[in-house]
Amino acid sequence: MERRRFLSGCAGFSGSAALASLADWPQAWAQAAPRPYARTRLVDVHGRPIRLDALAAETNYVFQYPYAATPCLLVKLKRPVVADASLKREDGTTYAWQGGVGRERNTVAFSAICAHKLAYPTREVSFIRYQREQSATSGGNVIHCCADHSVYDPAEGARVVSGPAPQPLAAILLEHDPREDALYALGTVGAEQFDAFFDKYKLRLALEYGEGRARAAVQAVSVLRELANYCRTTIQC
Ligand code: FES
Repeated sequence: MERRRFLSGCAGFSGSAALASLADWPQAWAQAAPRPYARTRLVDVHGRPIRLDALAAETNYVFQYPYAATPCLLVKLKRPVVADASLKREDGTTYAWQGGVGRERNTVAFSAICAHKLAYPTREVSFIRYQREQSATSGGNVIHCCADHSVYDPAEGARVVSGPAPQPLAAILLEHDPREDALYALGTVGAEQFDAFFDKYKLRLALEYGEGRARAAVQAVSVLRELANYCRTTIQC
């Protein structure tokens, strides 16, 4: 299982220890450790487990993780992914990104909260999405936030290619179970924007989810759906 690749860099991590405290992590990871959250299976809108083989390549999928209101983008790329890429956060600390999962190790997921000014996909509109085609403002095969044109490379851990974003998107750590062709989210690595996100959108999230519910932890399952079925308008640029 691909999970072993993640675990091999995180001695002491196990499914039952998904909520282990950072104090349990080895010293070597002290500055930029992966952060475990619930081991969450991705399912469709009917609650049926997602099979990775059934996902379309180079298509935007979205799911909520690790909180009820924090969206992530998942893409099955068609090009090779750089495994164990070394990335840098705005605060200067570095971290390793596991790469993709699946037979071809090309399925990746990132927080969809832009590292610039926290644009994110809502039910009404998304400024950020995986962009397969080249456009006037960026090359293809990138994650592009049209709000201010931050461009990220999903094959290299969402490192910043161009634009004002000061750091990569936080990566979602995935596990693929080949016996069932199942996908799980396990945690994050990189610079989370969650505190700033909940602070900036406090009122909107309270109206949308109910007071205090936006930050409810996602647990056993999270629904994966195409971005086109999640939000009414995806801005192209
Ligand atoms: S919020 Fe995404 S580029 Fe500014």
